[in-house]
Amino acid sequence: MCGIFGCVLKKGKAAPLIHAALKRLEYRGYDSVGEATLYNGVMYIKKDQGKIDDVHKIINLDDMPGNIGIGHTRWATHGAPYKENAHPHTDCESKIAVVHNGIIENFFEIKEELEAIGHEFKSKTDTEVIPHLVEEDMKRGMPLIEAVRDTLKRISGSYALAIISNDEPDKIICARNDSPLVIGVGEEGVYCASDITAFLPLTNKAVIIENGELAVLKADHYKIWTISDWEPVKKEPEKVKWTIEMAERQGYPHFMIKEIHEQPRCLRDTLRLQDMYLDLMATFLDRAGEIFLVAAGTSYNACLAASYMFSELAFLATHPVIASEFIEQQGMAVNINSTILAVSQSGETADTLAAVDYARIRAATILGLTNTVGSSLTRVSRVYIVQQSGPEIGVAATKTFTSQMSVLAQLALRVAKIRGKVGHRQIEEIESSIKQIPEIAEKTIKKNELKAVEVAKKLKEKKVFFFLGRGISSATAQEAKLKLMEIAYVPSIAYPAGESKHGPISLVERGFPVVFVCPKDRTHKTIIGNIMEMKARGAIIISVIEEGDEEIKTLSDEYFEIPGKLPEVLSPIAFIIPLQMLAYYMAIEKGLNPDKPRNLAKSVTVK
Ligand code: F6R
Repeated sequence: MCGIFGCVLKKGKAAPLIHAALKRLEYRGYDSVGEATLYNGVMYIKKDQGKIDDVHKIINLDDMPGNIGIGHTRWATHGAPYKENAHPHTDCESKIAVVHNGIIENFFEIKEELEAIGHEFKSKTDTEVIPHLVEEDMKRGMPLIEAVRDTLKRISGSYALAIISNDEPDKIICARNDSPLVIGVGEEGVYCASDITAFLPLTNKAVIIENGELAVLKADHYKIWTISDWEPVKKEPEKVKWTIEMAERQGYPHFMIKEIHEQPRCLRDTLRLQDMYLDLMATFLDRAGEIFLVAAGTSYNACLAASYMFSELAFLATHPVIASEFIEQQGMAVNINSTILAVSQSGETADTLAAVDYARIRAATILGLTNTVGSSLTRVSRVYIVQQSGPEIGVAATKTFTSQMSVLAQLALRVAKIRGKVGHRQIEEIESSIKQIPEIAEKTIKKNELKAVEVAKKLKEKKVFFFLGRGISSATAQEAKLKLMEIAYVPSIAYPAGESKHGPISLVERGFPVVFVCPKDRTHKTIIGNIMEMKARGAIIISVIEEGDEEIKTLSDEYFEIPGKLPEVLSPIAFIIPLQMLAYYMAIEKGLNPDKPRNLAKSVTVK
């Protein structure tokens, strides 16, 4: 998730304005920064890796001529956060510059094709194909706008982009597909940005660009068209009443709830991962002697869920291990035949890296799943996958958890294909279900948010919670427990439901809240038995069920319904969402700041 900005001013210098706008967008990405401006038929570009302030100290981002320009603050997706990979990216002759937020899925084929006809690429990014495609079209005599439109028809994936060319120095062209883009209309000029925050001090008049739309910005007006059939789109600016702080959170009161709402988009982005990397990692997993899934906290819970996925789909045994216990628990068993799949959102968790280092010294193969390109984990992994969730600002992991599970499910499915263990019909079924997850997640959020507020209000005084699930849902229960404990400070216990009667059930008395995670899978009948056990002891039953599950509904005091049918192995991705919201609203009810729980840091870099 990067930040983009562009401006065409009636007069004055664009660069200081771009710099200030990028500072306001820095929360979207902060590993490198860059600007391009046009003046007297010359393109000026400054960019480097590092935080905006640090880069500015060295190359002075304000000192660039011209009243038109674009800028970018980056959260790396393709290519490590080096200067060459920083945006803007240009064509061979540095006449066309592009800033982009999103992922171009077919960049690899296009790049090969362009290289074959002599284009020279300077970066490892997916974005760089765009200026080269535009260049190719303009060489054939197309004006900028047509060349951009033609280019957009060639690329697939997500984008919010802004393009300038010194052949047509009076305009910015911007376009959107699945990544946010908004135009600002001010007294001094016209702006485009990945969110309103960027131009809010300059104007509060905004025009939201929708998927499949392209806009041309000039200093005193803008025009919008649909990309596919080139229909003009009439849109008047709307007045935005947000403060800068609210705009950063896109109107949400906290980053955590904003990130919960971002899950459908993040899950969609996990479906755009390059096949090449998924296949490569699947091959390593298939050939591994013994596999350890190593992680901490929420990432460990994703590993726990993944161990069910690998077993169920690929008939592959894996050992999920808490990173800080890895050396003591499994250390002597690690050798050249071992494979470690380390999962870490930040890629910097000290416990996970210590486990990885230990295993590397014993010649084990290291695979990594992370959200952070260029992180320590990517540097020590033989193969790594970047899950593409964008920066997560709330301390509690939400969108990165569901995305991790989506990637792990895709991996399990690929291993299954390689091993030929499941039939093509089941593979197709799971594949199609994985594609439906973003929509189910979206409906789940809509259907359950008010309910989460209501349940939180009712249960806010409860001193302790119990979370139970069977099969893969026991991982969902673990994650739900972690969320409630860490942000609402409610001591909680999670168990596989079958294990609860081997001890923890002694805690249960009248009014004790027990949350059951109950997809309609093969554990359904048994979990009903577990619900009865708790009910008989006076527990308050809160369940997460599939829509229309009347049997469990009648046994529950409160229930959250998941609108949509998912196979058992994918159920945690949807079933966790109402419980993330419950944790969030419990924190709100208790007057706590869910974005900054006490004693916790986003990235735990000490052992
Ligand atoms: C919980 C949470 C932490 C992290 C853990 C691992 O909401 O955020 O438990 O999951 O510190 O972090 P990563 O995934 O960065 O290794």
